[in-house]
Amino acid sequence: MGNYQLIATAAMGLEALVAKEVRALGYDCEVENGKITYSGDESAIARSNLWLRTADRIKIKVGEFKAYTFDELFEKTKALPWEKYLPEDAEFPVIGKSVKSKLFSVSDCQAIVKKAVVERMKKQYKRDSWFEETGALYRIEVALLKDVATITIDASGQGLHKRGYRSDQGEAPLKETLAAALVLLTNWKADRPFIDPFCGSGTIPIEAAMIGQNIAPGFNREFVSEGWNWISPKVWDDARIEAEDMAKYDQPLDIMGTDIDHRMVKIAQENAVEAGFADILHFKQMQVRDITTTKEYGVIIGNPPYGERLGEKKAVEQMYKEMGQAFNKLDTWSKYILTSNEDFEQFYGKPATKKRKLFNGFIRTDLYQYWGKKPPRQNDFEK
Ligand SMILES: C[S@@+](CC[C@H](N)C(=O)[O-])C[C@H]1O[C@@H](n2cnc3c(N)ncnc32)[C@H](O)[C@@H]1O
Repeated sequence: MGNYQLIATAAMGLEALVAKEVRALGYDCEVENGKITYSGDESAIARSNLWLRTADRIKIKVGEFKAYTFDELFEKTKALPWEKYLPEDAEFPVIGKSVKSKLFSVSDCQAIVKKAVVERMKKQYKRDSWFEETGALYRIEVALLKDVATITIDASGQGLHKRGYRSDQGEAPLKETLAAALVLLTNWKADRPFIDPFCGSGTIPIEAAMIGQNIAPGFNREFVSEGWNWISPKVWDDARIEAEDMAKYDQPLDIMGTDIDHRMVKIAQENAVEAGFADILHFKQMQVRDITTTKEYGVIIGNPPYGERLGEKKAVEQMYKEMGQAFNKLDTWSKYILTSNEDFEQFYGKPATKKRKLFNGFIRTDLYQYWGKKPPRQNDFEK
């Protein structure tokens, strides 16, 4: 088994959660803006792809160095051990980005890195001619930040938010990685009731169900690194067997998603079927103001409309008010509402216990948290 420097990329604000997940998989890690760095063998690549719920993708760090000139970028890229990663028939497109760096022309950086990799490979594989690039995909990235070039190969393929269950979606679906993050930021446990009153395409309830039953989010999809000749199929088989063993398919769940729009309820149901939760998740058409329950100590997570569109603001703010009135009756429940509306607490009618800044794509939002009463401990009943 080899040893690789791995990077799990994270959306802004989710780094700590991704790091917690990486540590839970058994890898020590370092946290920087937007990325969590750790080292591991081939099985770490497979397990990270399969298990990380809140990371965007897994990359292999081939090298990192200062580069102030194109010459430096070329020579230092050529000096990296590309033959360790790329077989002779590899397809290796190069993408790039540059922030606050002397080398700001991304297209030039990409071309130089490509040329340097080709030069290295020609020497190693003793070839004069072009590489046909007919084999597996190794997408290289050159990322320059303050004149430091980080050169990586993408090991995920499609982003990790693509779990493979979403066949249809509404207008503003939440990214699966953010939906999982919201669930992990709450105090929800699988034995507590759960409601998403703005379920849309069902992303939050489906992610909650996967967390509740400890199902690996990547279990039903493929990853680009499954096609790489230096990761044996057994590594992937073992990682999938481990995931199967860890899943608690018998864990009962009480998860409900509701939405004002019956078309969304239908889409959520279809996505739940795709995700394998047909009989486990319940969806219902309902307005948030009508939510009532006799159950206790549950968790509500909601991603309502933000009222940013013209003409929508007033109605959304009225809806926030009605939501506050309905939720106020559920004093044992904890509620978590994600919105970009800075006056949310005023409309909801109560200051939040805690707020947490999060980005929904490029929209700056807050997760308004209203903590419910703590459930009594078992021996409190016995007193
Ligand atoms: C931002 S979307 C939620 C997206 C969802 N998290 C997903 O991943 O697909 C907001 C949802 O709230 C619903 N909605 C709007 N007003 C509502 C109300 N008064 N009561 C319940 N649902 C409402 C919309 O139909 C829409 O599906």
